[in-house]
Amino acid sequence: MYLAFSVLVLSLLGSGYGSAIPTEACKRTLYVEHTALIDIAEHHNCILQIETDQNHVLRFSLVNGEHFARAQEFVSIYDGIGDESPIIRPENQIRHEVGLKLTESVYTTKSVAHLRFKKKPNLSLKLKIEKAVYCPFNLGSESQCGRVVDANACYCATFTKRGQADHTTYCRDNGMKLLSIQTANEEEKLYAAWDTLVYFWTSASHNKTSGTWSWESTMANIYPGYANWAPFEPNNTLIDGTCMAIKNGWYDEPCINLYDAICELQPEDVPDSTTAASTTQSTTVEPTTVIFFSGNSNLH
Ligand SMILES: *[C@@H]1O[C@H](CO)[C@@H](O)[C@H](O)[C@H]1NC(C)=O
Ligand SMILES: *[C@@H]1O[C@H](CO)[C@@H](O)[C@H](O)[C@H]1NC(C)=O
Ligand SMILES: *[C@@H]1O[C@H](CO)[C@@H](O)[C@H](O)[C@H]1NC(C)=O
Repeated sequence: MYLAFSVLVLSLLGSGYGSAIPTEACKRTLYVEHTALIDIAEHHNCILQIETDQNHVLRFSLVNGEHFARAQEFVSIYDGIGDESPIIRPENQIRHEVGLKLTESVYTTKSVAHLRFKKKPNLSLKLKIEKAVYCPFNLGSESQCGRVVDANACYCATFTKRGQADHTTYCRDNGMKLLSIQTANEEEKLYAAWDTLVYFWTSASHNKTSGTWSWESTMANIYPGYANWAPFEPNNTLIDGTCMAIKNGWYDEPCINLYDAICELQPEDVPDSTTAASTTQSTTVEPTTVIFFSGNSNLH
């Protein structure tokens, strides 16, 4: 009886191989709001569908920090849920022009993925799944993008000289926002990536009427908060239309000046075009029946 049952499940899996979700027997869905951890051994021979917010991507790494290739023996990650979804392999990952090398993780290009668990590891091997943003490879020849500050966000420098307002439009046209700086660490990493030789526009501007500096991208006032004015700066604030550019410190400059700029995209940025529909935490949606079976399946 047990043997017959196993064979039935295996054949269901076998015949379904190549389709999105081969069997209901062992199907689970995981919604990733921020981060989720899963133990590879617990999902042995199962298929897990992973989802995160629209317009985001998923990042997979091993909790112990090992190179992602270590996981490939036990689980295959597919970019998407359709039949044609390719397996994500570390060696095929797009390497960005600047920033972190990130050989320990892989990214999807979509907000959904599915995982086929193959071999059971003989020790605990935990997979970390995080909501990240897509990082464009090229926004044109005069740009450079990368995971400059952390593994889940993306920054792009553009070396075309434009006024601050035109750079705001340029970033938005590419699904990003003109830079807002939150911490000294973030600013230091930007200088490490792109040096301090020229001005880069940020989204900060001064409102002469209210007398306040704010980040246009995030609508947040700069004070109270992190600030890093260069000595004797700001010194232009009586002039109308003053914006803030960085060059190893902050400088207030007429917004019409033509400088380079940095665009950014953070996982928590909700794209303007979509309504924030996500209300869920990271949860595993348990199927009505979960059947674990013995023996090697023919999953690849
Ligand atoms: C686990 O498997 C690895 C090879 O994948 C082997 O080197 C190691 O000795 C095994 N450990 C145990 C406790 O069986
Ligand atoms: C500047 O501040 C004033 C007073 O708070 C406000 O009414 C106005 O809309 C602000 N201007 C801009 C461009 O945000
Ligand atoms: C503000 O300071 C910068 C140097 O930090 C200088 O080039 C600029 O002329 C100053 N602007 C005014 C209005 O004093």
